Amino acid sequence: MSETKQQVYYPSEDVIKQANVQEYSERYQKSISDREGFWDEQAKLLEWYKPWDKVLDESQKPFYKWFVGGKTNIVQNAIDRHIKGADRNKLAIIWESEGGEVRSFSYYALNREVCQFANILISMGVKKGDIVTIYMPQIPELVFAMLACAKIGAVHSVVYGGFSYEALASRISDANSRILLTADGGSRRGKKIDLKSIADEAMKRSPTIEVCITVKYNQLDVSMEAARDFWFHDLKALPIASPKCETVQLDAEDPLFILYTSGTTGKPKGMLHTHGGYSVYTSTTHKMAFDIKPEDRWWCAADPGWITGHSYIVYGPLINGATIMLYEGAPDYPYPNRWWQMVEKYGINILYTSPTAIRGLMRFGDQWAKRHDLSSLRLLGSVGEPINPEAWRWYYEVIGNNRCPIIDTWWQTETGGFIICPLPITPLKPGSAAQPFFGNEVGVVDDQGNEVPVGEEGKLVIKNPWPGMARTIMGDDDRYAELYWGDYQKQGYYKAGDSAKMDADGYIWIIGRMDEVLKVSGYRLGTAEIESALVSHPAVSEAAAIGLPHELKGNAIHTYVILKANVAATKALQAELQQHVGNELGKIAQPEEVIFVESLPKTRSGKIMRRLLRAKALGLDEGDLSTLET
Ligand code: WT7
Repeated sequence: MSETKQQVYYPSEDVIKQANVQEYSERYQKSISDREGFWDEQAKLLEWYKPWDKVLDESQKPFYKWFVGGKTNIVQNAIDRHIKGADRNKLAIIWESEGGEVRSFSYYALNREVCQFANILISMGVKKGDIVTIYMPQIPELVFAMLACAKIGAVHSVVYGGFSYEALASRISDANSRILLTADGGSRRGKKIDLKSIADEAMKRSPTIEVCITVKYNQLDVSMEAARDFWFHDLKALPIASPKCETVQLDAEDPLFILYTSGTTGKPKGMLHTHGGYSVYTSTTHKMAFDIKPEDRWWCAADPGWITGHSYIVYGPLINGATIMLYEGAPDYPYPNRWWQMVEKYGINILYTSPTAIRGLMRFGDQWAKRHDLSSLRLLGSVGEPINPEAWRWYYEVIGNNRCPIIDTWWQTETGGFIICPLPITPLKPGSAAQPFFGNEVGVVDDQGNEVPVGEEGKLVIKNPWPGMARTIMGDDDRYAELYWGDYQKQGYYKAGDSAKMDADGYIWIIGRMDEVLKVSGYRLGTAEIESALVSHPAVSEAAAIGLPHELKGNAIHTYVILKANVAATKALQAELQQHVGNELGKIAQPEEVIFVESLPKTRSGKIMRRLLRAKALGLDEGDLSTLET
């Protein structure tokens, strides 16, 4: 296998010396032979109102429960614990806007903000278990809102600020949300994005919303509907918004949030995560893989609207008492040194981002990074899709100056935290996420669940439960059991949906998704969602979407459309359909290409053979066509 012949990068003495974890193999073996013991030990590093009776309850597989009987609240560890002593004055959040405005919050100040927000929610009738939808740009209030929900036992459902009103509406309806938290606008490349108007459109389509609270950020003119719409700053000025609020003591298994992610059907899945296990898992993985120290400045340059932001901007790092960096804007605006400027200005120690962002910045050349002193960086991270060795080397050499290990983390919305990742002490092979994290056994298997030989492609499985795992798809236990645990029920394996290879050293090489899920610029999109967006246009009769390799985005969306009879196939219509998908789902889902066709290849059972479309587009061997309808 060619990968194994690749150069191996060894961490320097300096990195090894200060690593939180000094040894992998023995500790790993121990962690899988006594999984519950390992997690018990980690959980004890956190505060609990009441300790658990049982680490893992496997009696209702695949509906595992962790830290059963334990009482906690993620806010107890993310905030309350830190404000008891001198740590209260430490910076929790440094925020910068695209235009250079700066706001920062100590843990003490963070607590006050979260308490005020929580009291506002309580005054609006939000109760334990209610689902609060949050649709905001990357501003501190987004973080406050999440923590405020958690604090009072409400469940947040954050919808990425780049999503369109249709996507927002369907998530509000699915969750039956009564409350929506939003902002007047966000910004991107100097342009203001009118979020409240999008929220208004969404509320027209999903009548469950009774209260909408809007944060003033971009001074946009918005329309406010009496009795439904409130300005956040107005509410914050009222006596109800006291900066003191009790954190509600919850069961470890009480829900913390739902987060929608794309799958094989048109309807996104609301993955449900809980307080106890998720607290333990995000903080442990963050501390060990990213070697986080209490004095570190940590920058995860994702959006809190995705799982990466939930686990590694907000919860894991705050539990670990780090200082987190938040930035609302584009990486290359107004100039391609925007990020490097901030790394230098704030002395960022660890930067965690996606291969797409790295490729995007790499194309501007080295000079933009070279203008800045990046010597504060100690570790770098990557997530979202396989990182191509070229981008890996650029990141390592130019950004990390050949001294910062790259922690390539493989995980999913469903896993809550890292499953496969190196530690700072791990020898690295560019493009491989290395080895399983403590407590996890992973395999590359065939359809029967048998390991495929070393170096051969197979399906990636996780062989055991872990505390950060999603507990279910909200409202659809059967789909959860079937989709993730159905294929390897006998063995009790979790099917990740990725194909992968394992090399002779046990390193995992992710190849890509095997299902109808596309990773575009690291974002996860379902082909079915794109197709149903196309079909919702009056000119379209049928549609198919596939991903084709793209230099910057990893994959780009190509679509094939059959038009209704008597509709003319024009260039203008192509552009209109691209735009239409953008309106329906959000700009990230806008197809690169719309190609008009007379027919689509289908199986005899009527399924579109996307594999065939892909092979054709790439000029590859079309493979096994035995099921093709003729
Ligand atoms: C899918 C999950 C987990 C946070 C962001 C994505 C792909 C994720 C890697 C990586 C190769 C990766 C997989 C996975 N993926 N990280 N380091 N190397 N592929 O979460 O949106 O739920 O997507 O992202 O295909 O299944 P997500």
